[in-house]
Amino acid sequence: MGKFYVTTPIYYPNDVPHIGHAYTTVAGDVLTRWRRMWGDDVFFLTGLDEHGQKIFRTAQEQGVEPQQFVDAMAPRFTSVWELLGIRNDDFIRTSDERHRAAVQAFLQAVYDAGDIELGTYEGLYCVNCEAYYTEDELHGGDCPIHERPVERVQEENYFFKLSRYEQRLLDHYQAHPEAVRPEIRLNEVLGFIKQGLADFSMSRTSIDWGVPLPWDGKHVTYVWFDALFNYCSAIGYGADDERFRHYWPVDYHLIGKDILRFHAVYWPAMLMAAGLDPPQCVYAHGFLMVGGKKMSKTGLTQIHPADLVEEFGVDGFRYHFLRDLQFGPDGDFSYESMVARYNADLANNFGNLANRVLAMSANYLGGVTPEGREDALSGPAHDAFERLCSGLERLDFAGGFGAVWDLIGATNAYIEDRQPWELNKAGEAAKVADVLGDCLEALRLVALLAAPLIPGAASELWRRLGLPGTPEDQRLPSAAEWGQLPGGLALERGTPLFPRIDT
Ligand code: MSP
Repeated sequence: MGKFYVTTPIYYPNDVPHIGHAYTTVAGDVLTRWRRMWGDDVFFLTGLDEHGQKIFRTAQEQGVEPQQFVDAMAPRFTSVWELLGIRNDDFIRTSDERHRAAVQAFLQAVYDAGDIELGTYEGLYCVNCEAYYTEDELHGGDCPIHERPVERVQEENYFFKLSRYEQRLLDHYQAHPEAVRPEIRLNEVLGFIKQGLADFSMSRTSIDWGVPLPWDGKHVTYVWFDALFNYCSAIGYGADDERFRHYWPVDYHLIGKDILRFHAVYWPAMLMAAGLDPPQCVYAHGFLMVGGKKMSKTGLTQIHPADLVEEFGVDGFRYHFLRDLQFGPDGDFSYESMVARYNADLANNFGNLANRVLAMSANYLGGVTPEGREDALSGPAHDAFERLCSGLERLDFAGGFGAVWDLIGATNAYIEDRQPWELNKAGEAAKVADVLGDCLEALRLVALLAAPLIPGAASELWRRLGLPGTPEDQRLPSAAEWGQLPGGLALERGTPLFPRIDT
């Protein structure tokens, strides 16, 4: 099987993670858990973007050294990812020595290629974005994203010769339109490139918190130039060439739409300058909105994952964000709809089906899996797998997992139709066993296919079905073939997998 390399943005540790950060990270986790089940050689990366003025100033405000500040913040991120069951293969921090060394090797390569030159910069800068704006991009003189004043800066800087890459970028996207998704984001990127690309300043002399340029130690690297390279430094650029060449180019950079330009214009050009391949796909999702607005600290609308996990559990949290919201457009977070979907999909559909089938199996089959089946659900089961595969291929998590919930619905409908309790009353023991054989096999498939999304409940259901190991130890596609639940396994009824939430 192939390699599969997926990244999240590296987050600014100036504040603790909120559900917007968790959204991308859970998406990456679901996708990579899925691909591990196919036997792929997966590498899933997340981490922290620790340099730059924003972090420097926050540390100053708190009266500590920047390194001390980021060291204290890093565990606040890793502990949230652990809480959410994120299985990242590495956690890169841009203050890591390995990252600094790799960035310097990369800078030298770009400098030697002649794509970095000295110049003077004068412009408007938003420290929160760590980005420059032109006058006409501002909203009433403020940063269009943060709605806060920008600063006028003038510095002698090194510039990356982005202007040289206009045509190469256009050619690249013409040949690989799939390299930016969804399509509306590609159009946005093409529109931006066609307006003409200006060289951008890639060093700073105003602070010394950053990676020094190898050829001019008075300058540190501009935070974005340094940050983007995390995707390469983490997989061994400059240190372990074989490993680097194995994983690069990345399969998916998962990002929010606000950082599209950096990932789909600057970054591929930077890579081209060093003779490296651009990313295979930059996938930009929308914002999680609260009350119709992007979540923000200043608007007091930040929601922290731990608060929701306390109420909905880890699986309930993961389920909501990937199933209830489309992974592309903006989506409104609402507590009420989270409760409603939890109760409808997890407590009722999923939980009740498991409970019902296991209870009937205890009553009618002595709690042991039967040998036979009717095979009436094999069609819906096959469909669910196909649709899940094609959904996840397009990063349509809501549609893909929707197919698994359709299988749950079909199984519930089948029970209503066949009425095993009536068959039991009529003394049709063989028929009861066959009907429940279908239901139990459907439950096996539900546990298998839902495992990347709700790993806790899925493996508990797997265990209650008497199956060894966990659903995620199974190999796809063979494990998804209908009819593999052996007879004679001891079932366990257990307590509700998703207790109802009453408000
Ligand atoms: N450090 C940079 C990324 C560097 S990647 C080489 C950065 N960090 S960030 O912490 O500000 O944002 C990280 C990601 O979180 C971005 O993709 C951003 O879109 C996402 N989100 C921040 N708020 C969000 C929502 N309210 N909803 C969804 N995602 C949001 O940018």
